[in-house]
Amino acid sequence: MSLPVVLVSGGAGYIGSHVVHVLQQSGFMPVVLDSLVNGNLWAAEKADAFRQGDIGDAAFVRAACEEFKPVAALHFAAFIEVGESVKNPQKYFVNNRDKAKIFFDTIAGCGVRHVVFSSTAAVYGEVTESDPIKETRPTEPINPYGQAKLDAETHLRTIAGVASVALRYFNVAGAAPQASLGEAHFPESHLIPRVVLPLIGMPAAVQVALDLAKGFKVFGDDYPTRDGTAVRDYIHVMDLAEAHVLALRYLIGGGASDVFNLGSGSGYSVKEIVDAARSALNRPDFAPEIVARRPGDPATLIADGAKARSVLGWQPKRDVAAMIGDAAQWHRLPVYAETIVEKSGR
Ligand SMILES: NC(=O)c1ccc[n+]([C@@H]2O[C@H](COP(=O)([O-])OP(=O)(O)OC[C@H]3O[C@@H](n4cnc5c(N)ncnc54)[C@H](O)[C@@H]3O)[C@@H](O)[C@H]2O)c1
Repeated sequence: MSLPVVLVSGGAGYIGSHVVHVLQQSGFMPVVLDSLVNGNLWAAEKADAFRQGDIGDAAFVRAACEEFKPVAALHFAAFIEVGESVKNPQKYFVNNRDKAKIFFDTIAGCGVRHVVFSSTAAVYGEVTESDPIKETRPTEPINPYGQAKLDAETHLRTIAGVASVALRYFNVAGAAPQASLGEAHFPESHLIPRVVLPLIGMPAAVQVALDLAKGFKVFGDDYPTRDGTAVRDYIHVMDLAEAHVLALRYLIGGGASDVFNLGSGSGYSVKEIVDAARSALNRPDFAPEIVARRPGDPATLIADGAKARSVLGWQPKRDVAAMIGDAAQWHRLPVYAETIVEKSGR
């Protein structure tokens, strides 16, 4: 019997490539659609099949559907820099909203009935409460990145005959170095790689490309949190990948359209992440500079993961030490340095 085919848009990127890996271990046949605007060919080639193209190109998407006859799709393809979305909103509304709509409409027209969508905690907007966030909290995005994701979620729910799950991720980190997979973003704005990279002696070319000499800065130590630094909910990318497979099975099993927050439910402060990196990487000397808060950064952002636990049966298993250890191992692989140097030269 042939395996069920699943289209994975953006499967050459960080999260999509880990999901492809877990899909392959879970009895699915992932087919990656990616333009490689930010993705990596070495990641795309790990899938059962890869077609290079833009998800906003309906003819390209339709051809892939006709060729592979997918039973479902997972949609990761998007731009991911919140700051850039504020400077250039159109870039985000076109790629993350308008092209997502074209993609959803096209696959629905080809008979795909189940869609899992990568959404984000940014749909909630300016969070002032410190309690864990439930899916029922009002969505009030404060930047084009969050707004475009919310618009895409809303559109997806309106497509007749399609059952969909929107997964709202909190802070994703970690890697699968044993599968030669990990985060290779350029520029890199995520906290864990920004802490880990300066501590593990990267080649000079990577240090220059990512401007590591500038050092790692802690933005604000006067928040109303246990140690004054901002608290976030970190989730290992492999736990996140497993949630996608559970969401897919939920839909294939007849589950109704729904939204789930994906986080651990317990936050770590920036200082706690720095301490964890110091001890995991044996760098007690590491003392980052403390600078002023950044506007718009809430004190605390933690997911209430009860719904994903009870409906999908999802339970994250990997802690922050694993995220830091796996990230460090991944960043030390030659493919990471080669990728960053290549991307910085574009
Ligand atoms: N990384 C995080 O912490 C995080 C947090 C919340 C939500 N998300 C969401 O998860 C998804 C994946 O994020 P990531 O970190 O893996 O990003 P990424 O940049 O590593 O991967 C995105 C992939 O999509 C591809 N892509 C972008 N636009 C495309 C288009 N129009 N057509 C075809 N391919 C296109 C890129 O080439 C890239 O391979 C995104 O939708 C993002 O918004 C990520």
